[in-house]
Amino acid sequence: MSATAELIIEGKSYQLPVVEGTENEKAIDINALREQTGYITIDSGYKNTGATKSAVTFLDGELGILRYRGYSIEDLAEKATFLEVAYLLIYGELPTAEQYAAWENSIRTHTLVNEDMRRIFDGFPVNAHPMGVISSLVSAMSGFYPDSYNEKAPDRTEMHIIRLLAKLPTLATWSYKKSQGHPINYPKNDLDYSSNFLQMMFALPVANYHVDPVVANALNTLLILHADHEQNCSTSTVRLVGSSRANIYSSISAGISALWGPLHGGANQEVIEMLEDIKADGGDVSKYIEMAKNAKTTGFRLFGFGHRVYKNFDPRAKIIKKAADEVLAKLGVNDPILAIAKGLEEAALNDEYFVSRKLYPNVDFYSGIIYRALGIPTNMFTVMFAIGRLPGWIAQWKEMRAGKEPIGRPRQIYTGATSRDFVSIADR
Ligand code: SDX
Repeated sequence: MSATAELIIEGKSYQLPVVEGTENEKAIDINALREQTGYITIDSGYKNTGATKSAVTFLDGELGILRYRGYSIEDLAEKATFLEVAYLLIYGELPTAEQYAAWENSIRTHTLVNEDMRRIFDGFPVNAHPMGVISSLVSAMSGFYPDSYNEKAPDRTEMHIIRLLAKLPTLATWSYKKSQGHPINYPKNDLDYSSNFLQMMFALPVANYHVDPVVANALNTLLILHADHEQNCSTSTVRLVGSSRANIYSSISAGISALWGPLHGGANQEVIEMLEDIKADGGDVSKYIEMAKNAKTTGFRLFGFGHRVYKNFDPRAKIIKKAADEVLAKLGVNDPILAIAKGLEEAALNDEYFVSRKLYPNVDFYSGIIYRALGIPTNMFTVMFAIGRLPGWIAQWKEMRAGKEPIGRPRQIYTGATSRDFVSIADR
């Protein structure tokens, strides 16, 4: 007999089924609630509401655990390549050597973008934010692959998945090259995923470009750490848009737009700008801790701190903080804002306001310090997050479609004006 939850409404008792996951998470199944009781539930920000069942990623916010398809983020960050993790998230298993070779080769040989996409890109002003550019260009990809939205065409989802993973890094570098007044670089088939991105970003026609393995490895690790994170804002957006049977390019483009927000992926850019402000203001972190504690009057928020589900350390932040020390040392970079970041973390973790609210550094707190050391400009940090998160979005979209989930359409409680007669403008 499966467990049930009893709900008593207006003296009447209702038994609601309980759903239990493989990690012993429990949920009350309210699929029949309105039909049985006439009531709906309401939960702003969906803090207590599960939108779906998923086998892609498990996280435990209290214990600071994160696993992709059962593999710990610590193991994957240390031992896997980003494309191995992408395969794992999308297909559910780590690839064999043969599967990986075919997968990696498919992606490597689809990195070129249709030249007509350049004409779309050329229309952007030089200072257009790269997140707006890539969300537009990814959506525009549907125009080049119309079978992606033709319900009668044979299903070529696997090809669209390859195209997205292969071409997003290429598209992502265009804004940076334009902002520098440099010519755009074409991808090279003799380079691995991270190295190819770096050469498209930083190679110049005047000299051969040497990919620093320290930089390529750091990028590989950062992409893995961002690859998926269960039902976060942007992933939920991808699933919701895809639930209307919108094509995969439109769904991913919507996810990029959601990620751009400063409370979500845009926080990594906000963190660096915040640390720069603190440095310019003399580096007194206690002043900013106080400002954050009085957010209601100061309007100041400590970006890179706090998380909807992690009420303990974000395991990704721990790995990134350690990597920041290692990468900057290997590159011989001495970035004063790393010390400011550590000072801020130390002060916050010893302050009742943050401790009582369980506000710890999240994935965005230290990532920008490494991106900066790799030479990536601040306004590209969230683009890096998007490149990392792409396989997670794809895996979740694919799972939603395979599960034939209904179109997402939440209900509401109406609080507006009740019925009233129209008044002509002469009488208003
Ligand atoms: C990501 O969901 C995911 O998985 C996201 C992500 C992923 O991988 O996809 O992990 C990536 O988006 C990480 C989060 C990046 N965002 C930031 O760093 C922005 C700063 N953090 C916050 O704005 C906030 O912590 C959120 C948005 C992350 C979470 O917000 P919640 O869960 O809605 O919590 P809340 O805003 O209700 O805050 C609870 C309390 C409030 O105080 P009180 O009203 O109780 O007095 O904590 C305070 C908040 O004011 N608070 C902060 C704070 N974050 C929350 N106070 C100061 N500084 C902060 N950063």
